[in-house]
Order: sequence, then C-alpha cells, then structure tokens
Amino acid sequence: MRATYGIVAALSASFSPASAAACSKQGLLLVSSYPIGNTVGGVTTFKLGNKGLEQVGELSTICGTNPSWQTLVGEDQYYCINENWDTGNGTFTSAKINKDGTLAFLGNSSTPGGPVHIALYGEGGKRAITANFASSSINAFSLDDPAKPQSLENKAFPPRPDNKNIASRPHQAVVDPTGGFIVLPDLSVDVLHIFSVDQTSLALSELPVYTFENGTGPRHAAFFKSDSKTFLYVIAEKLNAIIGFDVSYGTNTLTLSQIFNIRTDGSNTVARPGSTGAEITISPDNKFLTVSTRNDTMVEYTLVDGKKIQSDALNTFSIDAGTGQLAHVQTAPAGGILPRHFSFNKDGSLVAVACGGGGADNNRVNVFQRDVATGKIGKAVGEALLATQVNHVIFKE
Ligand SMILES: *[C@@H]1O[C@H](CO)[C@@H](O)[C@H](O)[C@H]1NC(C)=O
Ligand SMILES: *[C@@H]1O[C@H](CO)[C@@H](O)[C@H](O)[C@H]1NC(C)=O
Ligand SMILES: *[C@@H]1O[C@H](CO)[C@@H](O)[C@H](O)[C@H]1NC(C)=O
Ligand SMILES: *[C@@H]1O[C@H](CO)[C@@H](O)[C@H](O)[C@H]1NC(C)=O
Repeated sequence: MRATYGIVAALSASFSPASAAACSKQGLLLVSSYPIGNTVGGVTTFKLGNKGLEQVGELSTICGTNPSWQTLVGEDQYYCINENWDTGNGTFTSAKINKDGTLAFLGNSSTPGGPVHIALYGEGGKRAITANFASSSINAFSLDDPAKPQSLENKAFPPRPDNKNIASRPHQAVVDPTGGFIVLPDLSVDVLHIFSVDQTSLALSELPVYTFENGTGPRHAAFFKSDSKTFLYVIAEKLNAIIGFDVSYGTNTLTLSQIFNIRTDGSNTVARPGSTGAEITISPDNKFLTVSTRNDTMVEYTLVDGKKIQSDALNTFSIDAGTGQLAHVQTAPAGGILPRHFSFNKDGSLVAVACGGGGADNNRVNVFQRDVATGKIGKAVGEALLATQVNHVIFKE
C-alpha cells in the first residue's frame, strides 16, 4: 500500500476558516525525548498556531535527561518520569505548566529503575503508579499534595516461569473504567499483571495474571466501555497484533475472554519481520481505535519542504460498541519512522505523533487534522524536527 499525503501548503492559504479556528485554539504541545549521543534529552514545548509548530523556550531537564512519559491533570498540573534507562533509579517529577508553556519544578521522588509509564488512579488522581521496565517493578505514589509526590510502595515481578533468565518488563499501567482495577502488560513474560484498587484506602492487591501465548509481547492496552459492555484491547509489540477481550467483573475479580487477534494494519498478510506494535489509543468520542506500528507498512509522506520520505503508518478502526469487534477504516502515514507514541487533542480534531526514528534526521513531531465523524487522519498542520529521540507527545489546550 502506497499513498502520498501533502502537508497543507503554506499552512494558511488552503485553511478553511473552520480549521483555522480549530487550530488557533489549540495551545501547546509537550514533547519528551531521550538523548542522542551527547545531546541531552528532556521536554520541549511547542506552540501550535497558523505557522505550524514553533518551539517555546529551551529544552527543559526538570524531568531529567531521559524522560519517557508525561501526564497532564486539569489546566496545568504536570507529571513526568525520567527513565534513566538501566543506570540506577528513575525519578517522578511534579511541575506546573506556566502560561507561556515553560515548566516550573514543584517536587520529585525517586523510583526504582526504568519507569516508562505513569497512570493516575483514585478520585481526581490522588495516586500514581509507574511501570518500571528496567527494574521489573511497579511503584505507587501518593499525590495528596500534587507538588510533593511521596513513594508509597514498590513491587517487583518475577521472571518468566519457563526461563528464569528472562526478566519481567512491565511496559504500562492501565486503569479500568470503574477505577477498581489496574492492568499492566508485561512485554517479556507475556502476561497482564492485574491489581484491584481498594476504593477506600486506594491500596493495591495483586490478582492472578492473564497469560498470553509465548512471544506475544504485550506492550500497551486500552479499555473501551459502551453502555453495557467493557472491552480491553492490547497491542502486542512482538506479534504486531491487536488482541481484543471481553471484560467481565465479579467480586474483586476482572476476567478476560479473548474475542479476536488481528494484525495491527487490519490485513491478513504476514507482518514484516522486525515490525512491532507500539501505541494504542481510543478516540475522545469513544468510537475509534488507532494504533501505531514501527517498521511495518511503509507509506510515502511529503514533508513541508516538499521532500518525500518513507513513513510508518497509523491504522484506525471503528469499534462495534455491542460486540467489541474492530473494522479497519484507514492506513495513514505517521509522518516519519518509528512512531512510538501519539495522542489526540480533547475534541479529537487533531492527532500529534512522536516519530523517534533514532538518527539525527528522523526525530519528528507531526500534528495532523482528524475528521471526528469518520475517524480519518488528514493533512498535517505542523511539523518539527528534533535533535533528540522523540518518544512522547501530549497536547495542552
Ligand atoms: C529532584 O530535584 C532536585 C532539585 O531539582 C534535584 O537536585 C534532584 O537530583 C532530583 N532528584 C532526583 C532523584 O532526580
Ligand atoms: C532505587 O533502585 C534500587 C534498585 O532497583 C531499589 O532497590 C530502590 O528501592 C530504589 N529506590 C527508590 C527510592 O525507589
Ligand atoms: C518461551 O519463550 C522463551 C524465549 O522467549 C523460552 O525461553 C521459553 O522456553 C519458551 N517457553 C515455552 C513453554 O515454549
Ligand atoms: C526493521 O525491520 C528490518 C527487517 O525487516 C530489520 O532489519 C531492522 O533492524 C528493523 N529496524 C528497526 C529499527 O527495528
């Protein structure tokens, strides 16, 4: 499959008044990145306006120089983690986003090594949990005072039962729609760790794991709740697949029944060797599921300067709210290679993608228009090349 998509010429001439208005109300983009060589990583803020993406201030290292994930609560409360790769402890940092988009440090706390994801739980986000890849563990924090994160407990997971040399690699923590359970995909042990959350004390209790087939590599997941049903979609990094589950609840139990296992591009063909599923997100209107895949379908993409490049794809599916089944809607270019992460703005009219291609010319953040009615991703309205390895991008509106 091959397609050419152009960035909006001059970014203003061909704007319809509606999209220009939609664009001008979108404030800022926060981008975290890893170092490349001697160039330190950190958080970069961009302003999205009629001229596309413009950097605001200098790269910030208040999260450390290896930040891997960011979370925004309300208007301006911001949390980030420093993965620190496998060299010692990580950091959980709390900050405020100033009106001009710069970050103001509030407080921090040490985490076990290698945090790669933050999830908030408890009403209004009283607690946070980090999935710590390098140290095979999770850590819970109290955010009773959001400015002073306090470490509460950590728990390490055992290695694979069938091969003790393979350590656990928790990659994400996902809170279910009831707020009563947290699931954590474990990339190397091929399980979902499941915890229940005591609704009074917010303490975590571990439940039996859900086990996948060997070599699945569950990375990230997203819950979907319709009027009467709950489904869970897991993106498998190694299998390059989306695995769907029907979720049922009992007293202090969450039970998963698999309903499908499909390729991330919706096709029946064999995935390209070396291709890996990355991010999985449900649209803000709860109607579509979009996934990013690294090193798989190659589509042609035209940069703002007219240069054509090879791009990985974002695949979008519509969700059947009754059965949880997915129907493929679109394969769109991610705007570069290795799209590790992407996110929607609040009304779903824009999607920002972090393509962390690794080399100096391949780290790009793109913002695309998105048709909320069809779920289809359209033209680019902003593009920025970074000197560091882009890994995560969120909107602040
Ligand atoms: C927490 O922040 C302080 C002040 O910026 C900094 O000196 C310290 O290194 C940070 N702690 C960790 C664990 O990163
Ligand atoms: C720092 O890392 C070590 C080794 O992973 C771990 O035992 C310790 O609990 C961590 N410290 C904190 C404060 O998280
Ligand atoms: C599963 O795969 C791992 C390698 O990832 C291997 O060590 C282990 O023996 C396999 N287990 C089974 C039951 O095939
Ligand atoms: C992409 O896949 C090819 C094989 O198709 C592999 O040689 C290459 O190492 C992969 N690249 C990355 C960055 O994973």
